[in-house]
Amino acid sequence: MDRRIVVRPIQVEDIPSVAALLSEAFYPKNSWLGWISPVLKLGIYQDLKMRCMARSPQYSCLVGISSSHRAEIVGTIEVAARPLSAWSLMGVSVPYISNLAVSKSLRRQGLGKQLLAACEPIVRRWGFSELYLHVQGENRAARGLYSSMGYRLCRNEMPPWVKLLAPSQQLLLRKELSVKSVQFAESENLRSG
Ligand SMILES: CC(C)(COP(=O)(O)OP(=O)(O)OC[C@H]1O[C@@H](n2cnc3c(N)ncnc32)[C@H](O)[C@@H]1OP(=O)(O)O)[C@@H](O)C(=O)NCCC(=O)NCCS
Repeated sequence: MDRRIVVRPIQVEDIPSVAALLSEAFYPKNSWLGWISPVLKLGIYQDLKMRCMARSPQYSCLVGISSSHRAEIVGTIEVAARPLSAWSLMGVSVPYISNLAVSKSLRRQGLGKQLLAACEPIVRRWGFSELYLHVQGENRAARGLYSSMGYRLCRNEMPPWVKLLAPSQQLLLRKELSVKSVQFAESENLRSG
């Protein structure tokens, strides 16, 4: 792992760079959606700003900063307590990871792992002992990363008839945080609180 990368909570002035990073990671300029990337970037920027400004106690956006790239933002991740399905807003909230992205030039150096690991003590502080996320079936890099970090398939979100038609499957993964680490987090909380 590149030790010159520091992970810290996002600050308001980071929002444009994080939106640019997310836009490039999820809608690269050379992809079929590339031609509308400025519009997508603006949408990402506004959504992110709204989430950050809401200051929800169970929402966190982290950024990876590279000191060797003029303090450039090179990675990001969000974690929030929310119902698992967008359709069940009244459902039980669980800690859910989204918008994980690492700059192309710094991939495969452990930053994805570092960002995921940084979410674990956060959700433990919120009182949870598990983490959920969705990944597209064909996203090999992300699936490899999640598997190496202990995420396991919880369910395949697609009904069987859609699976036959859709090339891409949305998989729900879950990680159980170990009892040992939860106890550690609890003792840390007692000490600090
Ligand atoms: C997915 C992503 C965040 C991974 O970030 P990263 O910093 O490169 O990941 P890491 O270096 O921490 O990789 C850790 C492990 O994940 C797996 N992995 C990462 N990239 C991989 C790839 N391209 N192919 C296969 N396995 C991969 C490997 O097991 C790797 O360990 P190793 O390098 O020791 O073999 C990055 O590729 C990215 O930003 N992709 C675009 C956005 C995206 O798809 N986000 C996830 C949405 S669900």
